[in-house]
Formats: sequence, C-alpha cells, structure tokens
Amino acid sequence: MIAALLGPPGSGKGTQAEFLVKGFGLAHVSTGNLLRAEAKAGTDLGRAAAEIMETGELVPDDMVVRMVEHRLQQRDVADVGALLDGFPRTVPQAEALTEMLKRTHHQIDVIVCLDVPVAVLEQRIMQRAEKEGRSDDTAISFEQRMREYTEKTVPVIDYYRANGMHIVSVNGDMAIEDVGRDVAAAVTGVAQLPANDGRRG
Ligand code: AP5
Ligand code: MG
Repeated sequence: MIAALLGPPGSGKGTQAEFLVKGFGLAHVSTGNLLRAEAKAGTDLGRAAAEIMETGELVPDDMVVRMVEHRLQQRDVADVGALLDGFPRTVPQAEALTEMLKRTHHQIDVIVCLDVPVAVLEQRIMQRAEKEGRSDDTAISFEQRMREYTEKTVPVIDYYRANGMHIVSVNGDMAIEDVGRDVAAAVTGVAQLPANDGRRG
C-alpha cells in the first residue's frame, strides 16, 4: 500500500503519520524530516535545503525527487509499503512519483487531505515555535509556506483528481484522536478494496 498525506503547514501530517505508521505498519516517508536529517548531517543537500526551508519556500523539485527516489528504493518500502508525508507537493513531483512507482509496478492507493482553517494553523505553528523552536516556525515563514501550499500543492490535488485518484478530505480541526479515527477509516477503506489486492502484491 502507498498512501499519501497532504495538507497545509501545521495541518497534522506528521502527527497523523505516526498513527498510520504504527497502525498499518507502513514506512514513514516525510520529505520534511528527511531534509531536516540531511541538514543536521551537514550534507551538501542538507545545507542547501536548510537555507530554503527557513524562508518557507519549497526546495527545488529535482533535489526532493532524487531524495525520495533513493528512499523508496530501500527495503522497508518494498516490504511494507509507504506513507508519504508532505510529498508530492508540486505537479512535477507528482508526475515524477507516478513514473517512479510505475517502474516498480506500484501506484498510490489513497490520498488523504487534511483540512484546517488558516487561523488554526497559524496558532498551532506559533505554539510549536515556543515549544520546539523549529527554524521555519516563524510568522513570516508560515505565510510563505501557506503561499507555496496554495500556489503549488493545491494543484497537485487537482492533478490526482483529474487522474481518477481516490482522494479523501478529512476535517483536521478536531481533537487529534478524532482526526486519527477519520484518517484511519479512509486508509482502511482502501486497504479493503479487492481491486487493490494485486497492486499491493
Ligand atoms: P514539512 O516538514 O513538511 O512542514 P509543513 O508542511 O510546513 O508542515 P509541518 O510539519 O509544520 O506540519 P504538519 O502538517 O506535519 O503538522 P504537525 O503534525 O507537525 O516541510 C518543511 C519544509 O521542507 C517546507 O517548507 C519545504 O521547504 C521543505 N519541503 C518538505 N517537503 C518538500 C517537498 N515535497 N518539496 C519541496 N520542499 C519540501 O502538527 C503541527 C502542530 O500542531 C504540532 O505542534 C502538533 O502537535 C499540533 N497538532 C496536530 N494536530 C492537531 C490537532 N488535531 N489539534 C491540535 N493540535 C494539533
Ligand atoms: Mg510535518
């Protein structure tokens, strides 16, 4: 099974991914976490990405696609499937992913979009800034992340919709467990579709 979680900054992708990874035994593929790990390790990619991430802009597609391609080739993904968190975030990334998955005879089974009002998102990000100090959790960077989401990621949803993909919108403005219940239901629904048996191999 390949599932993808999309949503604006602070919508709960990482929070819900943790539940899904535990509940469905999927490998967690978060491009944000992978990029932060690269930055921490001080690699060329990490250094270049860190500067961009701090502004709230998206890291260039080719850099992210290469990183994801490498990650998807790892054994755990072949064994248990993947939960994509924050990828794909642009139409070119979505197209590259389609090609990548085609080569291994896979495809995305379900996309879950988390819907949360902007005022709530901002509040969450500002609260997390006090607790965790993530370098892009500033008012200016949040605004830029929202702009990138609207301009570049919303079209990804349209791209998949046009391709007949199974997209489920979940209200992310509820208690974490309630959102988790709806997200799990969306993924369970797809896991049980007989048409997906072959795909999941
Ligand atoms: P990324 O790390 O993906 O960050 P983001 O999309 O801005 O989102 P966040 O991680 O801040 O939020 P989230 O949706 O995961 O919510 P969370 O669960 O943490 O990307 C960071 C940067 O990396 C990008 O700006 C870009 O530069 C680069 N990047 C990453 N992927 C890329 C790609 N594919 N292409 C190009 N560039 C890329 O929750 C947020 C807070 O809210 C937490 O404190 C949490 O505890 C709280 N919370 C969660 N759910 C609830 C709830 N239901 N009720 C109350 N509080 C909640
Ligand atoms: Mg996240």
